[in-house]
This record gives sequence, structure tokens and C-alpha cells, in this order.
Amino acid sequence: KLEAVIFDLDGVITDTAHLHFQAWRQVACEIGIEIDETFNNTLKGISRGESLRRILHFGGCEAAFTQPQRDALASRKNGIYVDSLSQLTAQSILPGIHELLLELRERQIPTGLASVSLNAPTILNMLGIAELFTFCADAGRITHSKPDPEIFLAACDGLGVSAQRCIGIEDAQAGIDAINACGMHSIGIGAGLQHAGLRLTSTDQLTWPCLSAFWQHAQ
Ligand code: G6P
Ligand code: MG
Repeated sequence: KLEAVIFDLDGVITDTAHLHFQAWRQVACEIGIEIDETFNNTLKGISRGESLRRILHFGGCEAAFTQPQRDALASRKNGIYVDSLSQLTAQSILPGIHELLLELRERQIPTGLASVSLNAPTILNMLGIAELFTFCADAGRITHSKPDPEIFLAACDGLGVSAQRCIGIEDAQAGIDAINACGMHSIGIGAGLQHAGLRLTSTDQLTWPCLSAFWQHAQ
């Protein structure tokens, strides 16, 4: 029996992946580093501090920034990002997600959130769907970003389910790798994802019949 469905947030529930990109692009630009969408794909699912480290590395200037300077850059990025979140409303939920969450609740299938974003609780509240999640893993207690499975295992732990009996949904390669690493069944949303158990092009394909067929097939 399917015990739970565990969701990533940014890029699966709402399109904040793009807002993360815009904020990083601005901060990177201010220190003379130009990043594009392709590079940004490698930051999806990666914590704030580690994302900054990758940007500095990409710009060839990792050694030039002290920890206090990095902390300042990371908090500048978060300030820009949090400001941009004021645009979010219930309309910002990606197609099909609200319907799926309601259907899972009706079927009494627990739902979990596995996002390494410290802003995740705020975002779920702004979208008005916080109460549709049975358990949200606390990103503040996580020591390893995806592709480490830590956040997904924390979600399973909080839900009291075994990873092998769950479906995980992700838009990032690091996230698919994290799901696969803990033995969960992975669904990837978007192009260019490898090793996903099922790949969909958009969240509106994430219907209960689709999940249920995937689950049956995986047994
Ligand atoms: C998610 C996003 C990343 C982001 C990370 C940390 O994993 O995909 O782009 O860097 O969360 O988010 P935060 O809101 O804590 O900076
Ligand atoms: Mg994501």
C-alpha cells in the first residue's frame, strides 16, 4: 500500500524556483558573476549557503570571500527573495497540485514536504495550503542538501512511514537523486531529469490516476 506522497516545494508546488534564480542572478551580478538558467538548474534543491559557494566557484572567486562576506551575500539574496515572495497568492500554486492534495486527503494518504528551504513554512501559509500537509520536514535541522536523502528521510520519519512505500515528487536532478537514494519511488517534473521512475512534463499531469498507475506498476 502507498503510505505517503512527499513533495518538494520550489518548482513542484509553486514556481519559486524562478524567484530564487532572479534573486541569485542579482546578487551574483553585483559581484561581477553572470549566471544563466542552465547554471541555475544545478542550484535547485541546494541550500542557500551551498548555492552561494557554487556561484562563487562558478565565478572563479571562491577564495576571495570570507565567511562574514558570504553570510552578508546570502542574507542579501534572501532579502531580495523574500521581497519577491509578496507576489505569491493561492493563484501561484502550480496546476493540478491543489486538486491532488485534496484528493490525497480524501483518500487518507498522508502528505509530506521535503524542501531544504528555510522559507518553506511561510510559502505554504501564503499559498493557503499549509494544512493540507500531514508533516513538513524542518529544513533548519538538516545538515546535508539534496542529493543527500536526509530531508526525505526526515519527512518519512515524521510521517512514520517507510521510504520504500512512498512516492517522492521533484523538479531537480539533486532531488530525484535524493529520492532514489532512500529507496522511494521518484516522479520528476520537467525536462532533462535522469533516473526518475516516472517523468512528467508539467504538474497538471500529476493526477491521482497517474500516481496510482505509477504505484501499481512499481509493485
Ligand atoms: C530549495 C530551492 C533552492 C534554495 C533552497 C534553500 O531547495 O530549490 O533553490 O536555495 O531551497 O532555500 P532558502 O529559501 O532557505 O534560501
Ligand atoms: Mg525544487
